[in-house]
Amino acid sequence: MPNPASDALVFFGATGDLAYKQIFPALLAMVARDGLAAPIIGVAHAGWSLEQLRQRAHDSVTAAAKSSGGSVDEAAFAKLSGLLKYIDGDYQDAATFTQLKQALGNAQAPLHYLAIPPSLFGTVVTHLKSAGCADNARVVIEKPFGHDLATAQELNTTLHEVFPEHAIFRIDHYLGKEAVQNLLYFRFANSVLEPVWNNRYVDSVQITMAEQFGVDGRGSFYEGVGAIRDVLQNHLLQVTSLLAMDAPIGHDPAALNAEKLRLFRAMRPLQPQDVVRGQYKGYRDVPGVAPNSDVETFVALRLAIDTWRWSGVPFLIRAGKCLPLTTTQVMVDMKKPPMSVFDDVSAQQSNYFRFRLSPQVVIAEGMRVKRAGEAMQGKPVELVAHHHPESDMSPYERLLGDALRGDNSLFTSDECVEAAWRVVDDMLEHEDAVHLYEPGSWGPAEAAALAGDEGWHDPQPEAAP
Ligand code: BG6
Repeated sequence: MPNPASDALVFFGATGDLAYKQIFPALLAMVARDGLAAPIIGVAHAGWSLEQLRQRAHDSVTAAAKSSGGSVDEAAFAKLSGLLKYIDGDYQDAATFTQLKQALGNAQAPLHYLAIPPSLFGTVVTHLKSAGCADNARVVIEKPFGHDLATAQELNTTLHEVFPEHAIFRIDHYLGKEAVQNLLYFRFANSVLEPVWNNRYVDSVQITMAEQFGVDGRGSFYEGVGAIRDVLQNHLLQVTSLLAMDAPIGHDPAALNAEKLRLFRAMRPLQPQDVVRGQYKGYRDVPGVAPNSDVETFVALRLAIDTWRWSGVPFLIRAGKCLPLTTTQVMVDMKKPPMSVFDDVSAQQSNYFRFRLSPQVVIAEGMRVKRAGEAMQGKPVELVAHHHPESDMSPYERLLGDALRGDNSLFTSDECVEAAWRVVDDMLEHEDAVHLYEPGSWGPAEAAALAGDEGWHDPQPEAAP
């Protein structure tokens, strides 16, 4: 059975980049919004003092406030600062974990957040166990969950040696996004969608994750991953599973995960003819990138889902850096009317559902209406069901709060991670070369063929509501 709420938060990698960019701002928001009052213990091997960690936390929340145009809630920060403790020590050294055990004091159910390279996960969890810090505890880890199917399985085995599956919280921050949750809500809070959400009425589904920026500053990290591992295997297949899954039976997290898993398992493993990889011109000049790098910064693919509901409906997915704008959008194209009653309809795309997942949250439906006048001529219109700016609650605040409460609905399971790797596994070692594309374009021309006659729907800047 899941534990009660965690009564201490330990984060390894306290002096690192993830803590600076995401964890401190999330903790501050949790103190301000939810009254987080549990002790927060940072662990790192940097020769720092607690005062230095507090200063780092302040710098972090100041930078986050600046980028969102706000200011730091100093009263909340003072509370956060008072909750912070710091342990400086080597993760290989048992003494670090003895100190941690002491710092945990009376805490009965700590949450350990491993904001550290995956190569250290095994060492840290083993020491947590030996020091008695893993009893009744939870662990949070960040992607990448392995480098391919085999290493994902090894990682799960390592984690399971110390933590039961219900105590492992794997963060895919896409699942913490307001818009991604609304996708799930919109699908299953309305009954009108279900009758048409299948291969009788849906023609194709397109998902585009476009980023206007390149990989500057992350060259050496990106060289080790590429777009398939970085965003497809996790974020985009997760979005696909929420779009295509059957309704969960009940609303407990296990029911949701069971349906997602069924869907992941129905995704047909990708083959070379289903995938086009691209690389923006100039990528090889980024520091940390090999001069002859074959790593993809763009991927487009045609995915089949082998279920009665989706058989024959292509899921066209693409993601890329240095594209014309930054946005993630889903288009569910409905089939044309079965007979052409009006001449102007047959040649046009008629109906669709559009979900903009970022930067705004938009749900819209495309329809046709008659133009005023004598002729039976129509025009496309879009019915906007929802148009909202991005939530002020960051995915990290939401996910960390859920992990502390022990709610794993928005986290991904061992089986889902492995099933998602199985979909892309054959595509990770490629014999074909990447296709180069111009920065600011929609990727290499070769990707067009995957989408057939209808072509890709290139997302446009979102109009004001
Ligand atoms: C991360 C990837 O997981 O997601 C990045 O490593 C990507 O390459 C980022 O830019 C996108 O997330 P978001 O929330 O900015 O859309």
